Amino acid sequence: MDTHTSVIDESPPPLDLSHHYSRTSKARAESRIKEFYRYFAIPGISNLAGVLPERFKLTPNRPNGSLGAIPRNTVSTSLSEEDAHLSVPKFSGTSDRLHEIDLKTALQYGTAQGYPPLYTFLRQFTRENMHPNVPYAEGPEIVLTCGSTDGFNKSVETLSNEWSAETQPISEREGILVEEFCYMNAIQCVQPRGLQIVPVRMDDEGMKATGHGGLRDVLSNWDEAMGKRPHLMYTVSTGQNPTGATLSMPRRKELYRLCQQYDVIIIEDDPYWHLQFPSVIGHDIARRYSSEPREGATKSSGFEFLDSLVPSYLSIDVDGRVVRLDTFSKTISPGCRLGWITAQPALIERILRITEVATQQPSGFVQAIVAEQLIGPHGSNDNGRGGGRDGKGWAVEGWVRWLAGLRGAYERRMRRMCGILDDGKYTLVSKGLCNKGIKTVEPWNIVDKVQMYDFAWPRGGMFVWIEMQLSTHPLHGRTEPGKLSHALWLHLTTKPYLVLVAPGTIFSPMPEIAEERGFVFYRLCFAAVEDEEVEAASHRFVEGVNSFWAKEDLGEIEELLGVDDRGRV
Ligand SMILES: Cc1ncc(COP(=O)(O)O)c(C=O)c1O
Repeated sequence: MDTHTSVIDESPPPLDLSHHYSRTSKARAESRIKEFYRYFAIPGISNLAGVLPERFKLTPNRPNGSLGAIPRNTVSTSLSEEDAHLSVPKFSGTSDRLHEIDLKTALQYGTAQGYPPLYTFLRQFTRENMHPNVPYAEGPEIVLTCGSTDGFNKSVETLSNEWSAETQPISEREGILVEEFCYMNAIQCVQPRGLQIVPVRMDDEGMKATGHGGLRDVLSNWDEAMGKRPHLMYTVSTGQNPTGATLSMPRRKELYRLCQQYDVIIIEDDPYWHLQFPSVIGHDIARRYSSEPREGATKSSGFEFLDSLVPSYLSIDVDGRVVRLDTFSKTISPGCRLGWITAQPALIERILRITEVATQQPSGFVQAIVAEQLIGPHGSNDNGRGGGRDGKGWAVEGWVRWLAGLRGAYERRMRRMCGILDDGKYTLVSKGLCNKGIKTVEPWNIVDKVQMYDFAWPRGGMFVWIEMQLSTHPLHGRTEPGKLSHALWLHLTTKPYLVLVAPGTIFSPMPEIAEERGFVFYRLCFAAVEDEEVEAASHRFVEGVNSFWAKEDLGEIEELLGVDDRGRV
């Protein structure tokens, strides 16, 4: 007998104390990602939505290619016993705090800025290798975080005031500039604090500086009746989530100058910085980027790979108005919850004060493991074992090689996906009949080649942002475009297509954007599934879209929209 189910619990439920919840807490909404969970359960579905990544494997760092080229096999998927072994000793046998990586220190309370050996490694890597050209005196400082989500939350707490319509005049309401399609976690963090979300228009490079809805337009035409002019900007400058856009250096400079003019602080969330794809430079946007990496730079990072990347906003930050977020989530694993903030020392000092009373520090276990992996044992009396095959740490060289290897692996996946998507953009429909719902493509019909979707090859990151050309669908004009797009999204999850993509609506920071144009877009993630599946799923996406463009009967659309239990496919 199951004793758990047979006992009737007669205890009263706990009191409803929600009248004590803070305004901010009451305003917090559930993450929209949950809406996807039931679709993950469809047998055989390929997750191109990318919201629950299965992308990270513990792998040995076994490089076998030059750093300049796209290394092959750098990210190996086979793992021998020996390779898999990383050990953090109980005692490292040294009292030098910068080299002491052991359980004795890791499991104690530590300093808020980070575990000393790891903090020192990352500080040096940040200042000398990632951003050797920060233009202000003495350069930036860092503090370790529990990932970029934590880093963003702490930055927002440091730099903004909560606002409530119930108690404060609109003139006190602060605002934050965001990309018109953006990473929604950030929105869900600031919205309950009462910050006004101010979207800025984008093109395929990212946030626009000029033109209608660009940063200049938004800031110079600010209407004080809406609240204070925003003093914060949240941006994902490389491989933007969800659009995959990467800002060129000239565009960064333009945007930065505007931020100087209007005294705006830039929070640069850059988890995909190392995933910049040089092969795309030659593909379709060569002119905009060719002369740009390290333009005006005086110092090299010491690595060809890092020098080849479009530098962070920090490299033009003469004022110290950039707060940069980095994370190990995309380079080691999301579950390690580890990252760091880089900014001018005074700002870091304020964030340290929050850290002391919020998280105190990232987990000692995690910091020690990552430290051992990267730095390794300090000498022969240290029983630790680092990430290298010889038991030493990877050191900066190994870490950069690892980043270059990841870039190579994702670049190959991106090229596979984009090549297939490029080839499948067009379909044939009968000329003159496409809007009439008449069965088309009979042998004697005159056929037109129509484009079903468009996209730019991403220059970085993990995402392809596809704009559906709904106006070319045979049923366009006979049903709302939003419905058509949602029906297509559902159609793709059915057999034999079985692909789950992320609809643009979930990246729309305001309902108006979702309704006006968010539904036109889908985000495809090439990082969440293995190489072969990327290829197979991309083909199925193209086939699914093609078969949807063959639908000329409104009843089929209604039927798709009516089926809400996708588990039954
Ligand atoms: C732009 C962006 N910022 C932050 C995160 C989350 O970072 P972390 O795991 O370090 O909190 C993600 C993850 O998808 C992201 O795309």
